[in-house]
Amino acid sequence: MFVEEILEKNAQLIENFMVNHLTKEGVPPILWESVIYGAMGGKKLRASLLFATAGAYRIEEERVLPLAAGIEMIHSFSLVHDDLPCIDNDDFRRGKPSLHRAFGEAMGVLAGDALLVEGLRMFVENEEFLRNFGWRKTVAVMQVLLRALGNQGMVGGQVLDLLYQGKEGVQEEDILDMYRRKTAFFIQAPILCGSILGDASKKEQKVLAQFGLLVGECFQIKDDILDVIQESTRLGKTAGKDLAQGKATLVRVRGTQEAEKIMQDKFQTAYRILESLSRDFSLLLALSHFVVTREY
Ligand code: IPE
Ligand code: IPE
Ligand code: MG
Ligand code: MG
Ligand code: MG
Repeated sequence: MFVEEILEKNAQLIENFMVNHLTKEGVPPILWESVIYGAMGGKKLRASLLFATAGAYRIEEERVLPLAAGIEMIHSFSLVHDDLPCIDNDDFRRGKPSLHRAFGEAMGVLAGDALLVEGLRMFVENEEFLRNFGWRKTVAVMQVLLRALGNQGMVGGQVLDLLYQGKEGVQEEDILDMYRRKTAFFIQAPILCGSILGDASKKEQKVLAQFGLLVGECFQIKDDILDVIQESTRLGKTAGKDLAQGKATLVRVRGTQEAEKIMQDKFQTAYRILESLSRDFSLLLALSHFVVTREY
């Protein structure tokens, strides 16, 4: 199967799980509707990274499905809030009007909140998940996710993104630091979660952490390149926004070709690091290759 087909299959699995497991009872219909609206669509790459890593430790997809769905809901929260008028002010997302354009700004804030909280509940309150992996691993996985999302992670990164916007002379290292926080930690997180659930050795966890961080950096560099070279219809979101909004990106300070080269170097390093392990990570490598070659 091609990577794109694997992603599509996984996306279906995740979306079905979300719709079936997100409680409707006692929820204002507008909230339920907007949460589902925000959670649908997208590549569901982070879920696939979890499946691939857990799979390397012989854990079936079905067993990690609650966590995979939760991670994707949390990721969707980050997109919904990222699009708000006070942040990136984006009208389109995943090929349709962004959530606040469809349901209003207040719902953009509140459905975003809901996606974060309900995303955590997806696996923390799933009896089967708890029975399969136990409290200790569940808490460890939560720690990974919350660390990636917190003030030193995604939230802090998004703040830096705003502080650097329109600012002259932002250094390349500061941009990469911002990329790691706002994006790379949450790409690394599902890989770390898979290794924790699979009882990976300390050495394997360390290598996977380095690998995941590099792939995460590649992911944001590629996102910025695509913003410049790809069309909105193919991206499902507004292209050309970074330059128009004066975002501090690697593409802005180094140009598209140089940024592409930096990304390829990071990918090669990631590849070599993972190859130092004897376990079969071919699916994880294929997904990571997709990160740097993707067109959307
Ligand atoms: C976009 O993430 C936001 C960034 C972190 C750059 P994705 O490209 O994974 O978005 P979807 O989930 O496929 O829509
Ligand atoms: C978003 O980065 C990162 C997070 C959502 C945390 P971008 O602002 O570049 O993402 P897009 O391009 O809007 O998807
Ligand atoms: Mg942004
Ligand atoms: Mg944005
Ligand atoms: Mg972007």
